[in-house]
Amino acid sequence: MKSLLEKHRLEYKPKIPHISTPQPIPVHTTLSHLFPYLSKAPKLPPKPHPRVGVVFSGGPAAGGHNVIGALFDHIGPLVGFLDGPAGILTNSTKPLNRADIDPVRNQGGFDLLGSGRDKIETPEQLSAALRTVQQHKLDALVVIGGDDSNTNAAVLAEYFLAHKAPVQVIGIPKTIDGDLRSPEIEISFGFDSACKTYGELIGNVARDAVSSRKYYHFIKLMGRSASHIALECALATQPNLVLISEEKKPLKHIVSEITDLIRRRAAAGKNYGIVLIPEGLVEFVPDLQESVPHLEHDAHGNLAVSQIETEKLLVDLVQKQIPFQAQTHFFGYEGRCCLPSNFDANYTYGLGVSAAEALRSGLTGIICGMRHMHKSPEEWLPTFTPLVNLLHLEVRKGKEKPVIAKALVDLHGKPYKALTQHRKRWELDDLYLQPGPIQFFGPSEITDSCPLIIS
Ligand code: FBP
Repeated sequence: MKSLLEKHRLEYKPKIPHISTPQPIPVHTTLSHLFPYLSKAPKLPPKPHPRVGVVFSGGPAAGGHNVIGALFDHIGPLVGFLDGPAGILTNSTKPLNRADIDPVRNQGGFDLLGSGRDKIETPEQLSAALRTVQQHKLDALVVIGGDDSNTNAAVLAEYFLAHKAPVQVIGIPKTIDGDLRSPEIEISFGFDSACKTYGELIGNVARDAVSSRKYYHFIKLMGRSASHIALECALATQPNLVLISEEKKPLKHIVSEITDLIRRRAAAGKNYGIVLIPEGLVEFVPDLQESVPHLEHDAHGNLAVSQIETEKLLVDLVQKQIPFQAQTHFFGYEGRCCLPSNFDANYTYGLGVSAAEALRSGLTGIICGMRHMHKSPEEWLPTFTPLVNLLHLEVRKGKEKPVIAKALVDLHGKPYKALTQHRKRWELDDLYLQPGPIQFFGPSEITDSCPLIIS
């Protein structure tokens, strides 16, 4: 069953640039001792009709199904791994044919295969992965995931080469968090749709605030570590205050900043307002961590930031300084599986076509991306980056590991500077913007708009 809009979206034809033989950017790494094979920019003999496996990894992000749709259109039937990397470890698969793929074109979610946060890193897991791909006679594996999943893709690509298994591994940058970025990967897919969804909700809540005139709305936004989502939503909606974790303000400073805002607005007769809080705040403000009774980690060792009610904690702390009425919100899961915006539908289809071209060229251990994404999709520039270029050493669980660094908000970057230029005026003047829901029909400046942080 599909809603009317879902049915209409099935008919949408993604717009993509011309994607020709990939010219991968040269390998540039200090970790060649850890990745001796990938450091040589390897190429495998491409197959005319490769058998390709595909896996979703990590949290869902709008557009994932289009990556698979494009791979199917350009390669043919695929092998889908169920429930994320766990499907590779347990050899849990599903054949993907036209009947599976056509109903999910331009649709939200990862429900075609499911997803998961398991990693493939121990020697036992790596050899189980090799067994599975050999059992299915796969020539390639496409990993649709975030920073950790693409770190895993690099490890797998190296392992396959070291074991003389001619299996190409191609990464696709996915995450609503927008923190898997590089000069060649301007943004990860899913970010645009998630931010547009949150932007709609924030704009509506702001309009309610200025209509009812009695509540401060403290809105926590997903994004795990980086504050890209909070920054994008602030630029789109112009709240009275947005916290940016990367500013690393001490808790005392944050509380007095909010208290001062509420006091000044009260003096102007305004006992309402909008405060945006990135969910990663708790990671960057050590004294905030001390205020959280139990810091939970998920089964994969990640701090469960989405479970920590920072918005409520901040309300409590500020109410100890000044009385005011508050409503708290958390916008997170609402944005991960929405119908993909045109931007994400186009981008994901383009990434799938890029992956198919990379496979045809025998590339392995690379991640696809696009540049010039502020232009129309026909002018985007497909990129192919060796995964080793993105890896650096980081201490994780007390051990040094090669990982893809999370791209945080750059406090010298253009989007943050745009915020600092305007945020003072947003404090007292109610300059809220109401971006409205994602639009699929109408003027292209609305339907095809790109994220503000890359515009
Ligand atoms: P990915 O990086 O895997 O795409 O996950 C994004 C995210 O939505 C984060 O913003 C959030 O903190 C996390 O997933 C929540 O997922 P879970 O419910 O699995 O903790």
